[in-house]
Amino acid sequence: MKEIKNLNKNKNINNNPNNKKNFYMETYGCQMNVADSELVVSIMNKSGYNLIEDFNNADLIFINTCSIRENAEKKVRNRLQNFKALKRDNPGLLIGILGCMAERLKEKLLEQEKLVDIIAGPDSYRSLPELVKEAGDGEYGVNVLLSREETYADISPVRSDKNGVSAFVSITRGCDNMCAFCVVPFTRGRERSRNPETIINEVKELVNNGYKEVTLLGQNVDKYNWTESKVNFAKLLELTAQVSPELRVRFSTSYPSEFSNQVIDIMAKYDNICNYIHLPVQSGSNNMLEKMKRNYTRDWYLNRIKAIRERIPNCSISTDIISGYCSETEQDHKDTLSLMEEVGFDYAYMFKYSERPNTFAQRNYPDDVPEEIKSRRLQEIIKLQNENSLKSNTADLGKTFEVLIEGVSKKSDQEYYGRNSQNKVIVFPKKETEIGQYVYVKVHKNTSATLIGELVQV
Ligand code: SAH
Ligand code: F3S
Repeated sequence: MKEIKNLNKNKNINNNPNNKKNFYMETYGCQMNVADSELVVSIMNKSGYNLIEDFNNADLIFINTCSIRENAEKKVRNRLQNFKALKRDNPGLLIGILGCMAERLKEKLLEQEKLVDIIAGPDSYRSLPELVKEAGDGEYGVNVLLSREETYADISPVRSDKNGVSAFVSITRGCDNMCAFCVVPFTRGRERSRNPETIINEVKELVNNGYKEVTLLGQNVDKYNWTESKVNFAKLLELTAQVSPELRVRFSTSYPSEFSNQVIDIMAKYDNICNYIHLPVQSGSNNMLEKMKRNYTRDWYLNRIKAIRERIPNCSISTDIISGYCSETEQDHKDTLSLMEEVGFDYAYMFKYSERPNTFAQRNYPDDVPEEIKSRRLQEIIKLQNENSLKSNTADLGKTFEVLIEGVSKKSDQEYYGRNSQNKVIVFPKKETEIGQYVYVKVHKNTSATLIGELVQV
């Protein structure tokens, strides 16, 4: 890539004599991107860059991007326009696009988004200091190679959670599932698991530093497998829970056809593994599930829900749903609504289908559900979910939960918010408590999104 010269740059501008440079970073998309940005901060700190909060003082701006839906990419492109305006006053400013858009669009980004200097895919963050140097020398810094091995296992992320309470720990990278609609296997590459020793060491370090909650992250955590020491996801979950009984353990995301009874049993066995599962269903129609290449049926999914509820009676369950996928009929849509009624999800992330270039769906099926029908169906899905969330939260009235305090409520500085094991947000008056503490809160009020309560002694 070095042969491409970046004509937009003047080498000698912004030569900082102290060699101390500032960078600013914005992160879009999933939790995995948040975790990746924490790795990037660590890598850049080591090469002499300080992370700052005001982009006006930055020598370098990174945008860690998301490609999952067209809208996610649009958002990033708009933001990029703002940053590019800064270059007029500061031509030495470097702008880097990281993550899934970098991987998906590669050098095309250089043509489409003039004044971008660095393009780095999710597996090339170790090379960022070099890429930045190349860009500073007037060349483009581009690395979009995907790897079969890279897990950044040895890099200690610089945590972005300023409260020091909860942290993401990535356990796998990439995805081999190839769901027909999804761009992730193309942008994040092949699935690979991270050495469990490095995961457990990272968790221990977090505990030593006062963290109270970890979320193990992977596109499909159920595929975690470290063959050398025969550690599968259930075993890894157990090893994580054993680090400290004071540590809450969460994980995301589970995959219905691979979510095993062994994992459910480990969840039931350890009090500190949270009673919460995110199990994306996508659709309630077998036709759609097949066309999505999801490898399970509606009945299979409902059976998984039954298995969870039998073993963990107070487990909350959330899901992802796509409306208006290729050739979705009114009956398919009704099947999704009826599945939602049957399960009664506590929470859901709901999306309109967005065709992504080069996916199986894009190559094989027309994106033929008209926009207004997609929107109407999505509205019906959202309406039903709001009712279900309200029902689920109303059922918690009068109950007392153990809550880990995460921060000050946005609405009042006299109140804290935290989450219970079921991942529900609870707001309550601060009194003598502090962030990072476990407290008991009795719920006396609720909306569809939040529980409101009072501290109690137990
Ligand atoms: N396994 C991943 C899924 C990543 S994508 C995880 O860890 O969460 C998150 C959700 O985005 C998917 O479950 C799906 O519901 C939605 N999604 C993915 N591709 C999409 C597309 N092309 N259009 C609309 N929604 C999509
Ligand atoms: Fe995407 Fe399916 Fe993997 S939704 S991230 S291909 S599990």
